[in-house]
Amino acid sequence: MSTHPKASPLLKPDWRYVEKISLEDFTRGDWALLNAQRSQYYAEEQARQVLRMLADSEHDTTFGYQVNNYRHSLQSATMAHRDGLDEEDVVVALLHDIGFIACPQRHGEFAAALLGAYVSERNEWMLRRHAIFQDVHAHHHPDVDPNARERWRGHPHFEWAATFVARYDQATVDPGYECAPLSFFEPMVARIFARPQRRAPMPD
Ligand SMILES: [Fe+2]
Ligand SMILES: [Fe+2]
Repeated sequence: MSTHPKASPLLKPDWRYVEKISLEDFTRGDWALLNAQRSQYYAEEQARQVLRMLADSEHDTTFGYQVNNYRHSLQSATMAHRDGLDEEDVVVALLHDIGFIACPQRHGEFAAALLGAYVSERNEWMLRRHAIFQDVHAHHHPDVDPNARERWRGHPHFEWAATFVARYDQATVDPGYECAPLSFFEPMVARIFARPQRRAPMPD
């Protein structure tokens, strides 16, 4: 129990607070306590909080697409699953646009930063650039260069990025598509975030 009446609750009833308000005052013992509780906290909370970000957008409006970002994400993941892609690719499809509204111009980087430590380099690379790969499909968009992706032609992950966008991104805005529910993907998301971290995601 904290002595402060406005302290946030702890995840576990047997955990303890560090009852100090400046990190400069934390002792080695305080850091040891925090770090011991931190690992269990992330194991239980990280995937849950990421899923909550997506779940919270279920009833969002759109600016003109027939489906909102939630349904686009579910269609992308459902199609990836029905095509027999592996669990990592399905989760990547589910979360590729998780930052689409909150961080529109850099939403590929947003997803790459979120997932990069837990997925293959191929998927991190694709996530970071997927919006640019999409431009080749926007034949009549007034403001994009359809050939922008060509700068990466020949890169080992080029074909995967092109395939992902063609199949699971540019054509997954169909209001008539029967998507699997978010609950279907929740255990998959939990397993991906439970992986040992590959490395800190770094821009290249
Ligand atoms: Fe996107
Ligand atoms: Fe997308």
